[in-house]
Amino acid sequence: MTALETAAEPREIHRLDYRPPTFWVDSVALEFDLGEEGTVVTARLSLRRNDEVAEGPLELDGEELETLSVAVDGRVLGQGEYTIEGERLTIPDLPARCELETKVRIHPESNTQLSGLYLSSGNFCTQCEAEGFRRITWFLDRPDVMATYTVAIRADKQRYPVLLSNGNRVGERDLGDGRHEVRWEDPFVKPSYLFALVAGQLASHAGDFTTVSGRTVRCEIWVEAHNLDKCDHALRSLQAAMRWDEEQFGREYDLDLYMIVAVDDFNMGAMENKGLNIFNSKFVLARPDTATDDDYEGVEGVVAHEYFHNWTGNRVTCRDWFQLTLKEGLTVFRDQRFSADMGSEPVKRIEDVAMLRLRQYAEDAGPMAHPIRPESYISMDNFYTATVYEKGSEVIRMVDTLLGRDGFRRGMDLYFERHDGQAVTCDDFRAAMADANGRDLAQFERWYTQAGTPRLVATGRFDAAAGTYSLTLRQECPTGQREEDFRALHMPIRMGLIGPDGADQPLGFEGEAAAGAPTERVLELTEREQTFVFAGLTAEPVPSLARGLSAPVLLELEEDEQRLAFRLAHDSDAFNRWDAGQRLFGAAILAGAAALARGDEFQVSKGLVEAFRAVVTDPSLDGSMRSLAMALPSELELAQRMEIVDPDALHRARRAVRRALAEGTRTELAALWERAKPSGAYSNDRASIDRRREANVALAYLSCLESPEWTAAVAAHFDGADNMTDSQAALATLCQLDVPDRQRALEAFYAKWKGDPLVLDKWFTLQATSVLPGAPTRVAALAHHPDFTWRNPNRVRSVVGAFAMANHSGFHSADGSGYTLVADAVIELQGANPQLASRLAGSFNHYKRYDQHRQQAMRGALERIAAVDGLSKDVYEIVHRALA
Ligand code: ARG
Ligand code: ZN
Repeated sequence: MTALETAAEPREIHRLDYRPPTFWVDSVALEFDLGEEGTVVTARLSLRRNDEVAEGPLELDGEELETLSVAVDGRVLGQGEYTIEGERLTIPDLPARCELETKVRIHPESNTQLSGLYLSSGNFCTQCEAEGFRRITWFLDRPDVMATYTVAIRADKQRYPVLLSNGNRVGERDLGDGRHEVRWEDPFVKPSYLFALVAGQLASHAGDFTTVSGRTVRCEIWVEAHNLDKCDHALRSLQAAMRWDEEQFGREYDLDLYMIVAVDDFNMGAMENKGLNIFNSKFVLARPDTATDDDYEGVEGVVAHEYFHNWTGNRVTCRDWFQLTLKEGLTVFRDQRFSADMGSEPVKRIEDVAMLRLRQYAEDAGPMAHPIRPESYISMDNFYTATVYEKGSEVIRMVDTLLGRDGFRRGMDLYFERHDGQAVTCDDFRAAMADANGRDLAQFERWYTQAGTPRLVATGRFDAAAGTYSLTLRQECPTGQREEDFRALHMPIRMGLIGPDGADQPLGFEGEAAAGAPTERVLELTEREQTFVFAGLTAEPVPSLARGLSAPVLLELEEDEQRLAFRLAHDSDAFNRWDAGQRLFGAAILAGAAALARGDEFQVSKGLVEAFRAVVTDPSLDGSMRSLAMALPSELELAQRMEIVDPDALHRARRAVRRALAEGTRTELAALWERAKPSGAYSNDRASIDRRREANVALAYLSCLESPEWTAAVAAHFDGADNMTDSQAALATLCQLDVPDRQRALEAFYAKWKGDPLVLDKWFTLQATSVLPGAPTRVAALAHHPDFTWRNPNRVRSVVGAFAMANHSGFHSADGSGYTLVADAVIELQGANPQLASRLAGSFNHYKRYDQHRQQAMRGALERIAAVDGLSKDVYEIVHRALA
């Protein structure tokens, strides 16, 4: 141990250190005696020595357990027969097969970490992924140990009438003393992280689903009774997801019962426990007056995501946690495709890529950069990241693009055929895809081993005499990674060449007949640099590359304003049209920021205004597409592209561009608002959603004019709204304006919704993301509001999280008060809820990209966190990576 290390330094786990367990667990019988002051858990494990590992004691994981007894084959073990050291129980001499019974006491009533068994709104619930099961009982708490479970739950009948666990309900009895017992049995083997238990006062909204083979599955959404009228969308989403997985992947649901429980206190989005999903209520509850169109999409997507895990995650699971992307990347890919099929494919793709670039590209460029299959971790909970999930999904999407839809399906079929009931690795998935298609995907493994976002530098040369266009694509090492570690990736680049008339040209390779050539191709890159020569061209084409973002790269292609405007108007790929607009607006804002930083004036070009006008008026765009195309890249996203981030100049430049666009097109914007503004009662059909989107974005632009007329229109929109989409949009706009209507609307909104936690979260968020001067002071006041609590993750995220992640200029206030506020929050939370604290601590990850003054302030905040006595390992890992 060196002088700098201390005994308390958390242990780092490495992927290559994987060893199989010394024992398997074939079956588990659990008994819960739930109590207000302590719960007793009895666990009987059928153990079987792993023949591959002939030696070694049994080692079980446990955290915060009070061990009451340990017995083997009915005989209680004495003190010398086992040891408990820290979070490990070791039993040296065990027969090759035996039954181990442990009895422990745990304290759900004081579990603030929300991992293991805890209470939410007075009801018991669990969260076991990744390593929460060890907080319930002694176990081989690792995903490669798969067992069948039977569960008996005993509790007070009055207080906990509903008792749920995985699988099928097989019995119930009254215990006579005011308590009752319900028994559950899950016939499918599962790892411990998929265990779930719920007990409390709940009611269910239920419906049936008939599977493709004609079985009836009962679907139940469990909520507190007053929320029963907000469950129908979740139920319909579940039924739609069940049908879709049958149709697209031939996967049928396997139990007779599927339950979703909504809880208010939850660290993440939701959890796919076998037959008993537990959800953050944010992704279940929806009613038109309480949830926005985007919230509805969120519910649909998360319900589907957790459902799809039944096959990609539960039936086939991960061997170890380094393989997390095996189930998460694949399941995100599946839910993205599902949502695209339910709504609009290009709209969904744009939303997903926007998120990828904002969160994942940033992660890739900072201290938390890791391959989608990480090499090491201190706390696994820190690796439920945009990289593992969203980039993981992009990697699967590339497999789909390379193999084609049918080839991908063949690979999935083989994957399930080979591995149903097993815990496997990312390599197993790749092998199934390759073998089912007779393809070599060896080089493709690099996507699993290399961190960072590769840059793809494109250059084109037109030879008028020969009628050829040479396109050279060069892969460059990601920012922040070492050149010597970078090796060429196997990537599909979907592309087209646009002719002067705006039409895609036939793409005949040199030496090929041009006639009948396709107008779009997928180029397969496998080398650092490759040149493709297209022939038969009569005029210089405009390349449209990486359509649909066919690979998760940063495409670098020199394009001036004219060319971007041309593609914004003509690119046949809807995604690339949007992307051209983003590049165009982004470049203008960044040039403006640079000018302002120099103390120069800057003017928004006429060309930019005209390009914007074309978007506002283009009759071919639907309202969702129009609203996406009109949205300027966020400050957070643009900051990633600045050499040294100047938050003030960036904020002023973006504001100025917004205002100039609004002034330049006020007539068209007003016409758009007139055409799309609410008329008649709310409806949730596609066309109405599209209209709401374009109306709200038009009104938000018009509000930048800061004219009394448009401010009044926003206020009237707020007052007249009969649905949360319009209500929230209008209030969000008012929150950015220094007008009396802002305070009045906030008060009205509060008075109406103070009893609904999810809506109240919105009220907090809209204020925390207001860029009006004095943001840190306002946010500090919100954290002292009587409705604020550090114990509810949604509430903390709605104030501190929203401020740190979605209020760039406020968080980076020059006086450092934003940093102090967030660091204080991390310190306040880190003991009680390390997972939540660690997410907030990540807000400082990019401090090195800011000016000296801000760097120092953020570094100071990180050091202050690092100095906390007994810092949780989750936060430790984040701040030490950042400070390294
Ligand atoms: N498997 C869950 C999902 O993606 C995420 C659960 C992660 N929870 C945690 N505490 N790390 O749907
Ligand atoms: Zn998932």
